[in-house]
Amino acid sequence: MTKKYLPDNLDEWDICEPNGEYDMRDDIFDYKNQKEFDALGYDQRRNNIMNHFFQEGVTKVRSFTEYRTHTGRTLAKRLNDEQPELIIDAGCGFNYFGTNVKNCIGIDFVDYKPTHDLRGPDIIMDVTKANTVFAPNCADYIICVGPFNFGPESHLLPLLESFKYLLKPTGRIVGHLRPGQIDDPIKSLYRGYYHMPWTLDLAGELFTENGFNIEWIGEEATDLTWLPDTRLQEHLAAWEQVNVSVSGPPSSAAIDKNLNTKTLERHDIIANIKNEIHRRHQDPLYDSNRPNYIRSRIAIELTLKKKKN
Ligand SMILES: C[S@@+](CC[C@H](N)C(=O)[O-])C[C@H]1O[C@@H](n2cnc3c(N)ncnc32)[C@H](O)[C@@H]1O
Repeated sequence: MTKKYLPDNLDEWDICEPNGEYDMRDDIFDYKNQKEFDALGYDQRRNNIMNHFFQEGVTKVRSFTEYRTHTGRTLAKRLNDEQPELIIDAGCGFNYFGTNVKNCIGIDFVDYKPTHDLRGPDIIMDVTKANTVFAPNCADYIICVGPFNFGPESHLLPLLESFKYLLKPTGRIVGHLRPGQIDDPIKSLYRGYYHMPWTLDLAGELFTENGFNIEWIGEEATDLTWLPDTRLQEHLAAWEQVNVSVSGPPSSAAIDKNLNTKTLERHDIIANIKNEIHRRHQDPLYDSNRPNYIRSRIAIELTLKKKKN
């Protein structure tokens, strides 16, 4: 995480910042205007998110969880070393953690079928209803790699309430936030759900105002050197379907000054993936100065604020 993986000089970066993984799937909604979209209530937004993730193309990207530098396989190792009594992965997707971490239960409201040796969710349900299944204060850890990204704030509050119910007083949430992108409001109209335009400032406000301490926040990336050949090719194919270029928000700098903040801004994802392929083939086109990472997310760790007596 403290490795510096992008050049300082902006001119050396190729200008290509695709909108994100969501472009590679069909956009199945088409709200006519922002007003119509804004009027959606929690249930409709949730159903739209479920329909979005239920699409077939989702298998291409969601199984990349394990290659993330903070919330990926390093987290699996950390949790297996610590051996907590109960870990709940909220929005587990194909259930990388449930498959690889002891005492971890994956919940998702989409019934993903097993793929890439991942077993799919253990419980199919909306995490906000977890009190119907779990005892209060039962979880040492909640993994939340995804659900924080779906807003607006009113949509997130039931999720935060559910996490307060589930966590032991000493418990911890480890999750990620997707940095906001310039054209998110327009894209929401045909995505059918609202992407939170996360920045460090917004995270600072929203979590602390709703009962959580931010214990750690910083940059995370996807480490291309960890991807097997086939997955690297899949990743390349997926990103090559994306052809729109915009930059990420400059306000998403990492708090930890040792981290290179620029990973959360723009850089050439496709060229970095191709470079990693060149490295594996010992191709003279390999450029050792190019990063072996691609921009990913803001990682965050939260604990419960102590209740006042
Ligand atoms: C971006 S995906 C990430 C999946 C997985 N954590 C990973 O990294 O591969 C977000 C997931 O959260 C699920 N999700 C979002 N909100 C949820 C909720 N309230 N209850 C259950 N699942 C939820 C979605 O269905 C989707 O599978």
